[in-house]
Amino acid sequence: MGHFARILCAVVAAAVLLCSCGAQTAEFSYDDNAPSLAEAYKDYFRVGCAINTWNLDNPDSPEYKTILKQFNTLVLENESKPDAVHPSEDTYNFANFDKFVDFCEENDIVPRGHTLLWHSQCPDWFFKDGGKEVSADVLIQRIKDHVTTIVSRYKGRVKSWDVVNEVIGDDGQLRYSNWSKIVGDYDGDGDKYDFIETAFIAAHEADPDARLIINDYSLESSSSKAIRMYNAVKKMLEDGVPIDGIGFQMHIGNGQDVAAMTENYQILARLREIKPDLVFEVTEMDMSTYNQDQYGNNIPLTKEQEELHAKTYIDTFNMLMDLSEEGLLDSIIFWGLCDGNSWLNGQRDNYPFLIAREFKLKPEFFDIIDLPRKR
Ligand code: G3I
Repeated sequence: MGHFARILCAVVAAAVLLCSCGAQTAEFSYDDNAPSLAEAYKDYFRVGCAINTWNLDNPDSPEYKTILKQFNTLVLENESKPDAVHPSEDTYNFANFDKFVDFCEENDIVPRGHTLLWHSQCPDWFFKDGGKEVSADVLIQRIKDHVTTIVSRYKGRVKSWDVVNEVIGDDGQLRYSNWSKIVGDYDGDGDKYDFIETAFIAAHEADPDARLIINDYSLESSSSKAIRMYNAVKKMLEDGVPIDGIGFQMHIGNGQDVAAMTENYQILARLREIKPDLVFEVTEMDMSTYNQDQYGNNIPLTKEQEELHAKTYIDTFNMLMDLSEEGLLDSIIFWGLCDGNSWLNGQRDNYPFLIAREFKLKPEFFDIIDLPRKR
């Protein structure tokens, strides 16, 4: 090798080293040299998070820059729920939802809709009629009007909807709620899925191309809940209800048994025997790490707990990439932007994400970034 070629090689090697050091030394999720989760997983699935519209107010803020740098799908944490959008029968508040969808479109981000029907954060007017409990007939009509009005407004724009949220109860039965109690077995076919069926059919009629999801928690961690969901969706698919996919909220804990999660995903994957193009979405992921002393004071995580968190995330992301390779999964969403924004922080601090408070990158963020390249 000639003198000039040797110098050229040395310069190239130094440049490569500088670039890779730059990526590793990025400190914050919005840094120019920070790697991007969405970019790292582009061959597997979209990566997103739940936000609030005030995160979109200042283009110079860490949250705004993090959203654009790290994510290519988004959902609203609270502002597209029934109490926010439809607080009384004749009032719809679309300002925040519109702002969110506009922002997504301007930035090539896929917006999700969460959620059309839920037993929580749902105004009482749905269930009342002149001081009395509403009749099943009127409630069915209200469900149709509510779903049709919202889904039609965002036709072709909101690509995926949590049509119903958490309809399976912790006892593994259909959740007892005002919806299931009042609508009941409306069509007399022996099940009480009728309010769910009404919502899915109305959503499909309003936007036939939208992906319609039935969303729930603990499907990945509880086999009895996964089986109950399987039975419910199987029956509805056989009855022709237009359900496109299952939403796995994935509020999991540090050290979650990933082998058991894999089995539960496979229980629900068997629905493909009935609907071959059924899809999964991970809709609300976080990995809780409460840590307190005997007096209930917050204490920092131990090194072992941090390592377990990283390992559980690595095993989980490997499983999610497997599901993507099976053609089952194309979207995962974290339920918050960074540790400081999580609903899990209450009386106790929590550290559920790959991005720490103040948008600082954790070592496990880099583990997860590197994972697709290692497969
Ligand atoms: O908007 C009111 C505000 O006016 C009031 O001053 C304040 C006082 O507490 O409360 C505000 O409402 C809070 C709301 O979030 C908006 O910030 C509620 O108290 C609070 O309970 C509510 O919590 C939300 C929770 O759903 C409600 O069930 C969380 O932020 C949100 O992260 C959480 O999200 C759910 C998913 O939708 C479904 N799956 C589980 C997930 C976590 O619980």
